[in-house]
Formats: sequence, C-alpha cells, structure tokens
Amino acid sequence: MEIEKILNEISEIENEAKKMIKEITDEKGMEEWRIKFLGRKGKINSITSKLPQIPQELRPEIGKRINSLKKTLINLYNESIKKIKKEEKFENLSFPGKRPKIGTLHPLTLIIREMTDIFFKMGFGIVTGPEIENDYYNFEALNTPEYHPAKSFWDTFYLNEKEKILLRTHTSPVQIRVMERMKPPFKIIAVGRCYRRDALDASHSPVFHQMEGLMVGKDIRFPHLKGVLTYFLHQLFGSEIKIKFSPSYFPFTEPSAEVSISCIICNGKGCSTCGYTGYIEILGCGMVHPQVFRNVGYDPEKVTGFAFGMGVERIAMLKFKIDDIRYFYQNDIRFLNQFG
Ligand code: DAH
Repeated sequence: MEIEKILNEISEIENEAKKMIKEITDEKGMEEWRIKFLGRKGKINSITSKLPQIPQELRPEIGKRINSLKKTLINLYNESIKKIKKEEKFENLSFPGKRPKIGTLHPLTLIIREMTDIFFKMGFGIVTGPEIENDYYNFEALNTPEYHPAKSFWDTFYLNEKEKILLRTHTSPVQIRVMERMKPPFKIIAVGRCYRRDALDASHSPVFHQMEGLMVGKDIRFPHLKGVLTYFLHQLFGSEIKIKFSPSYFPFTEPSAEVSISCIICNGKGCSTCGYTGYIEILGCGMVHPQVFRNVGYDPEKVTGFAFGMGVERIAMLKFKIDDIRYFYQNDIRFLNQFG
C-alpha cells in the first residue's frame, strides 16, 4: 500500500471528524460520531488494521500518527460531550425544578395540633392568655396562699418585684381571665408558654408549654372530668393504655387528682422512664375550688366545673420517644427533620 495514500487517509479522517463534530448538538449525535470514528468497527480501527500492508520500517511512524489521531479524537469527544451535557441541562426548560427545602413543623407544634384536635372533637373552644401576668391571676385568684412555695423568688421570674408582675408559671391564670369574661356553660382549652426558675437539664426547661382545660356549667361532676380525660388520653396514646387517677392537691381544685398512664416505653412492666413503677404521671386536674368561683363572681352553689393542666413537652417526649427536653429548643436540623 502506498504511503502517500495512507497518510492522506489519516488526515481525511481527522478533517471529517472535526467537521462533523462541529454540527453535533445532542448526546445522540455524539454517540453516532463516537461509533463512526472510535467504535469497534470505526475508522480508527479500520485504518489500524491496514498497518500490516505497510513496509515494516515505516510502520512505527504511521502507527504513531494513527495513535496521535486517536488521542485527538478522544479529547475532542470528551470536550464536546461535556459541553453538550451542560447545554442540554440548561436548555431543557421542561426539567422539573428543584424543590426548595421549606422545612417541617416543629414537634411541639405537631403535638399541640394533635392535642387540640381531640378537644375540638369534644366541642372545646380554644383561648389564649398573656405570658406576662400579675400575682393576682397567677396565684391569688387561683386560691394559692401567700406562703405557697411556688410564689418564692426561687421558683418564679418576677419582672417587677413591687407590682408583682411576673412570667406566668402555668396556664391556669387563663382560667380566671376566661371566667371573668364568659358566662357558663362553656368548655375551653388554653395552650402556651410558661416560665419557671428551673435549671436546664434533660427533663427541665425554664421555658416550657402547658395545655389547660376548663369546663364550667350546671351539674358538671367528677365523672365528666374522668370521661373527657380518658377519651383524650386514649385518642392520643391508643386505647390499650391504662389510666390511673390518684388523689392529689392543688390550691385551685377540690378534690384534686393526678393522672398517670401505663408506661408506653415498657408497656407497664417497669423501666427507667417510669422509675420502675409501670406508670407515668401526665397531668393534674380536679373540680374547680368554690373559692376560685367566688373570686370571679360565680355562685359555687349554682355552677360547678373541672379543670386540668398538662406539660406539652412531656407529652411530646412520650409520644415521640424523646429522652431529652433540650432537643426541642436547640434547632438541630438533624432532630427537626425527623418530624416531616
Ligand atoms: N397548674 C398546675 C401546674 O402547673 C397544673 C394543673 C393542675 C392545672 C390541676 C389545673 C388543675 O387546671 O386543675 O402544676
């Protein structure tokens, strides 16, 4: 075979490949180009197979030329495909857009919604009250005596010592504000932030949330309280849990009770969460104290009612099996993302 001819062929392949690749605009065209020149039966291989026809002494030189063309074509291919892929991505406006991260609802918001929904089903309305309270609403109207330990500077944040303005220590003052405004019968819940001088640890936070309930009317009795709370807890934790009412004391209810549920971590068998008792205390409740009714101008001979209060964080911790209250306030995305 003539040397001249094979050298011509090499440069023709180069010219053709370069000319063709300029016209290509998509990946499909690139693949066809690759097969035509660099494929198994492509032009590079076919010209390589002609090497034996060349005089021995010229083979290394021609071989080198073919190899260098092959390298040039591979580089051309890599550059073009990169460019085309980028352009295709950019030009294809029908690609679905990237959904921006819009975040998730906070676990406390989720549990508050779930809790309020259960009370809404029973016909309760929802009210709010101020987080900055005074001594009268937070303590006195709730029949809490002057000497009660909750009133001490160690337990309560006072904003103004003289006027006894403070950050409410519970949502119970909302009971008083509601009763001053409304005429029985009614049934309401109130949710919101409360503040206590507690050091932050796995189970205490100086800022936390409570949900309060109050039902007042004619002939409201303890079984109504029991029925409402039993329904609520069964809805929230499942009807298989056991519920226990034990006698307790609060200044604003008489009689008062503490409600516990069978431990949902160990199913009542006993574990470190329930202190090996099988039960977890979950809320305080009772029949509204006659003195509280008198304080708001109601006649305790004519109306009766029940009230209850519970910590929202505690319920969320049990429901979502969270063992440290601090997770709620640290804004750690790894924690929050689990509640999408
Ligand atoms: N306020 C109480 C507390 O913070 C909880 C509570 C107990 C609220 C009994 C009530 C109730 O309405 O009847 O510990």
